[in-house]
Amino acid sequence: MGLVRRAVGPGPAIHALWGAATPSSPLTPAEARVIAAAVPSRRREFTAGRACARAALEELGHHGWSLLPGPRREPLWPDGVVGSISHCPGLAVAVAARSVDTPAIGIDVEIDAPLPANVVGSVMDAGETQAIERLAARDAATPWGRLLFSAKESVYKAWYPLRHEWLGFEEAGIELRADGTFLARIRRADTAPFPQVVSGRWARGNGVVVTALVLPGR
Ligand SMILES: CC(C)(COP(=O)(O)OP(=O)(O)OC[C@H]1O[C@@H](n2cnc3c(N)ncnc32)[C@H](O)[C@@H]1OP(=O)(O)O)[C@@H](O)C(=O)NCCC(=O)NCCS
Repeated sequence: MGLVRRAVGPGPAIHALWGAATPSSPLTPAEARVIAAAVPSRRREFTAGRACARAALEELGHHGWSLLPGPRREPLWPDGVVGSISHCPGLAVAVAARSVDTPAIGIDVEIDAPLPANVVGSVMDAGETQAIERLAARDAATPWGRLLFSAKESVYKAWYPLRHEWLGFEEAGIELRADGTFLARIRRADTAPFPQVVSGRWARGNGVVVTALVLPGR
């Protein structure tokens, strides 16, 4: 099973582009306008993410959809579709599914490297830091801090399209497990329609880590 599929699990359409090459699949004119003024590296990652999203949408029967960003940069999927995009050096990925099967998806890819020390304090609390130290004592090769950060990014990408509001790093408690799963607990009284507690998966290989969250269907 592919790395991204291990993190996403069965069901959603997945497309990934490995390497630094610019994808041949062109942007729609509306997508091209959105990114026209950006620097080349940003245009490249946007184009790669859109190429993956287009392939995933085609798998679901949606052809020629312009995947424009909403006010907070969230991709605006066609009615009846949910999805998520992520990119890091060397990889772009998109996942999409029918909203009757899942209300929201979040995916995040990151390079397989320790989280910079100056970021750690703003991403995790004391309990999360201690849990990561315990995991690292048994497996020092896995970048647990980076995985925890990535899991929070995945949570946010699934959260935002449902709630249309910010979620701070301190508002989602992540419990990483060595078996390739994690639990996210939202530290708010009211999270509906997002679950208060939800599980996700992570995978590691080819120089990257992947986390994903596919919310259970109703
Ligand atoms: C938005 C954010 C999650 C993007 O993550 P990143 O690691 O910087 O970049 P990635 O390549 O993984 O993901 C970028 C993609 O996320 C998607 N995205 C951006 N904002 C989004 C939002 N509000 N909702 C859903 N998806 C969003 C976009 O598709 C974007 O790619 P694109 O602009 O090319 O379309 C991050 O920049 C951010 O703002 N994080 C702070 C909020 C947060 O994570 N809180 C943690 C809560 S527990």
